[in-house]
Amino acid sequence: MEKTILITGCSSGIGYCVAKALHTHGYRVFATARRQESVEMLLNEGLESFRLDLQDSDSIAQAFEHVMHQTNGELYALFNNGAYGLPGAIEDLSRKALRDQFETNVLGWQELTNLVLPVMRKQGYGRIIQNSSVLGFVSLPYRGAYNATKYAIEGLSDTMRLELTGSNIYVSLIEPGPIESKFRENAVKMLAKYVDVEKSIHRERYRKVLKRLNTKGPAVPFTLPPEAVLRRVVHALESDKPHPRYYVTFPTYLFGILKRFLSTRTLDALLARSGGDH
Ligand SMILES: NC(=O)c1ccc[n+]([C@@H]2O[C@H](COP(=O)([O-])OP(=O)(O)OC[C@H]3O[C@@H](n4cnc5c(N)ncnc54)[C@H](OP(=O)(O)O)[C@@H]3O)[C@@H](O)[C@H]2O)c1
Repeated sequence: MEKTILITGCSSGIGYCVAKALHTHGYRVFATARRQESVEMLLNEGLESFRLDLQDSDSIAQAFEHVMHQTNGELYALFNNGAYGLPGAIEDLSRKALRDQFETNVLGWQELTNLVLPVMRKQGYGRIIQNSSVLGFVSLPYRGAYNATKYAIEGLSDTMRLELTGSNIYVSLIEPGPIESKFRENAVKMLAKYVDVEKSIHRERYRKVLKRLNTKGPAVPFTLPPEAVLRRVVHALESDKPHPRYYVTFPTYLFGILKRFLSTRTLDALLARSGGDH
């Protein structure tokens, strides 16, 4: 069996780190990216790369066909990773803003997964690794759209796991807290694209949100480098019994416990104070 893996969103952050490291460790990595300039950058670094834009079904189908062509119709693993965060109070988000967020973060992932699953079923093994978030099980103010997409990924993954019982295909969720990447930089662009900050009743809070998003380097305590996610990806790929969920960073462990033991009301009181302004 050739250890092949298809990864989305490799231009920066976690996808870039995981693609480079797995390549170095002998995997055949298909390191895809949304933009051609990112593909060029990845090719220059010696990776196999081509375009895959999760907003675009044709792009997803072409990328999948390319992989199939390269591997004689086999694929060991898919790492669904490419995504963005759209900050903003839910009442400020248009239908279009929410739709775009779901197109990339959820529907693109599932469309790609549904192309890959028959291949894995036929070959009799496979690994689907979903880069979810601590925000896939706790909510923070001004993260509603992103929260909703990660909750959706958790729901789809939990159900796929049940439907794949006995298939030798494993679905693992990775749930990172804060990780160093371009995530905040990209979120600033999305806020500017989709939210009319000055017209919003939340404009004062947005100034604080922007201050946090524009902070250079770690903006919150317990931020880890993307290698922390890589370690869990490697376990999900190489363990005989991959975990259904991998926590990454202290905040994920903490909120995992708090979610289990606190009432919704008490947890709300705690969460309402965080996320929006630091
Ligand atoms: N950083 C964190 O604190 C954190 C915490 C928990 C979970 N995560 C998750 O980790 C994953 C990777 O994020 P990151 O932190 O590494 O942030 P990042 O540096 O912003 O990387 C995000 C990647 O997704 C790509 N992407 C965006 N829209 C896409 C589309 N339509 N099609 C294909 N790719 C697209 C970006 O490409 P472009 O460069 O072209 O925009 C980029 O390569 C995401 O699923 C995120 O939700 C991150």
